[in-house]
Amino acid sequence: MDASDVAACWEANAETWTRHARAGYDLYRDALNTPHFMANLPGVAGLTGLDIGCGEGANTRELAEAGAAMTGIDIAPTFIRHAREAEAAAPLGITYRLGDGMDLPFADRTFDFATAFMSLMDMPEQDRVLAEAERVLRPGGFLQFSILHPCFATPFRRVLRDEDGTVLGIEVRDYFRATNGEIETWRFGAAPAHEKAKVEPFKVPRFHLTLSDWVNLVIAAGFTIEHMHEPMIDAETAAREPYLADTRVAPLFLHMRVRKAG
Ligand SMILES: C[S@@+](CC[C@H](N)C(=O)[O-])C[C@H]1O[C@@H](n2cnc3c(N)ncnc32)[C@H](O)[C@@H]1O
Repeated sequence: MDASDVAACWEANAETWTRHARAGYDLYRDALNTPHFMANLPGVAGLTGLDIGCGEGANTRELAEAGAAMTGIDIAPTFIRHAREAEAAAPLGITYRLGDGMDLPFADRTFDFATAFMSLMDMPEQDRVLAEAERVLRPGGFLQFSILHPCFATPFRRVLRDEDGTVLGIEVRDYFRATNGEIETWRFGAAPAHEKAKVEPFKVPRFHLTLSDWVNLVIAAGFTIEHMHEPMIDAETAAREPYLADTRVAPLFLHMRVRKAG
């Protein structure tokens, strides 16, 4: 699958994705991924940052609220339109650009840091986006990103639950099978049934790599690995939102912070 097919999928997802994410149905993001990501982020107040694959901008806004001068970039025009509308309604000084993470429209050494929340694994050439992130960072700058966990979110993953819904385990297959845009279809699990029935499922092209592939790509792009994290939902939230309890058995996400040489 080439980059323009991937872009078309995301553009088709963007309207419903924005509406559902803003309604609070992206629970993995709001209850788990973003809080853990922000807790592990070095201080960004006064720094200039780039958010790669910013979507409708919720995480970009968090970074701006933490004091960074932010630019967000995304491949889907509808995401960028919604992000700009949110900025116009409640300005945080964020600039949004339509563009490709694999061909960033910025000069070398423009940013102090970059983030990519759950977007790098959606890009067909991860080596290119990592090289581009490295290029636009100033010496000593960092990239922090979250991805589907390469070991536990493989092309085949099934959460095994008993009749009460308690998670018994995760079935994982096909770890070594790299995928080139195989489409996964799903809706946000926390969306109510009547909302799910109203919309087409998201179509998400998958570009699965193994853990060692990711580590080797990061190193080949010139980065040093500084921090890794595998977020797990706390027991109280899992009891309230059993949907998230699988992350107490094995991680669904992997966070990495990597640094460009100073
Ligand atoms: C799973 S969504 C995450 C969105 C957002 N970061 C969040 O956490 O809510 C992946 C995002 O990556 C964007 N994306 C995919 N391929 C891209 C590319 N080549 N360049 C820039 N953005 C891309 C999609 O349009 C989508 O907004």
